[in-house]
Amino acid sequence: MKILVLPGDGIGNEVTAQAVKALRAVTANGPGFEMTEGLIGDAALAVHGDPLPEATLEAARGADAILFGAAGTYESDLLPPEKRGGHGLLRLRKSLDLYANYRPVTAFPELIGASTLRRDVIEGVDLMVLRELTGDIYFGTPRGVHRDDRTGERVGINTMRYTESEIRRVGHAAFRAARLRRRKVCSVDKANVLETMALWREVMTEVGRDYPDVELTHLYVDAASMHLIRRPRDFDVIVTGNIFGDILSDAAAMLTGSLGMLPSASLGEGGRGLYEPVHGSAPDIAGRDLANPLASIMSSALMLRLSFGMEAEAAAVETAVRHVLAEGYRTADIAEPGSRQVGTEEMGDAVAAA
Ligand code: NAI
Ligand code: MG
Repeated sequence: MKILVLPGDGIGNEVTAQAVKALRAVTANGPGFEMTEGLIGDAALAVHGDPLPEATLEAARGADAILFGAAGTYESDLLPPEKRGGHGLLRLRKSLDLYANYRPVTAFPELIGASTLRRDVIEGVDLMVLRELTGDIYFGTPRGVHRDDRTGERVGINTMRYTESEIRRVGHAAFRAARLRRRKVCSVDKANVLETMALWREVMTEVGRDYPDVELTHLYVDAASMHLIRRPRDFDVIVTGNIFGDILSDAAAMLTGSLGMLPSASLGEGGRGLYEPVHGSAPDIAGRDLANPLASIMSSALMLRLSFGMEAEAAAVETAVRHVLAEGYRTADIAEPGSRQVGTEEMGDAVAAA
């Protein structure tokens, strides 16, 4: 059970350290993990002149799971891709063919008061958006901006493209995830208008026959976006393509309140996964013990569940997070009047203790 830890840049270092603490605490009585650390992002650029050095990629290929922090800074964002810290992460995902991006969205009862949404709508929300990450209109060809021969007008072109096998593999991932949850999959498409999405629905239906114990429903993306805001509690796993998933997962994220509360997992074949908070390196608060480590800590829970099948340990980490929130521990981003404001380290220590 090998874990490669890639803290990266800025608060990536601070929050990842807390997730490592949680992993060590929850596996203290077992064989534990073999954890090694590697360089990525601006941190790797500074040493190797490359945001994803060969040694890091090698280590990633040899690991069962990767715990990632954040990569990039505002300075390197402006440089060409090969000198851009954040590009290291994109190359890592692509190199490992991590096609399934999971974003669980949980409304914590303790934080509902701080939300702008109605309590009766978000209370009990516990869903997962599964976004396909390597296909769709983001990668399909032909693409580009061309000059029309006849009219001389410029034309922008992208192609929504999915092969049957690309749909099938993310479909299986959705049903497998649902079996660890409430056994419901909602596939989101636009099958009424788009051929690609008609195929999507057909293949999802075929895949669903292998999982008679999981309920499969279909929604068009426009209707899904409405239901997601109106009745988010009804959803368990939402599986969808790259572009619809991009949009729906950001909308769903706002059900929870803070960027610092959102974990994610990206998986390929064989269970090897990359686990990371949704947020970036947050240069504005980096190095000041201000960052909320809960997104990173909850990413480590996803690692336990999805890469190692350690459901009890994963649940223990999530329960610990709920416990410290119930005790009133709050980092600055989720602080309310009267709450017990703590720094990154203290929050991490409290979760590990719990
Ligand atoms: P960001 O997510 O780093 O920060 C956005 C805002 O949210 C900031 O005000 C920050 O202080 C706050 N924030 C983020 N995480 C927080 C946490 N855990 N606790 C408390 N507050 C938190 O996004 P931004 O500012 O757009 O990007 C900063 C750098 O990070 C850029 O160089 C960008 O390229 C990179 N980035 C990297 C990502 C990754 O590695 N996955 C994702 C997004 C951005
Ligand atoms: Mg997005």
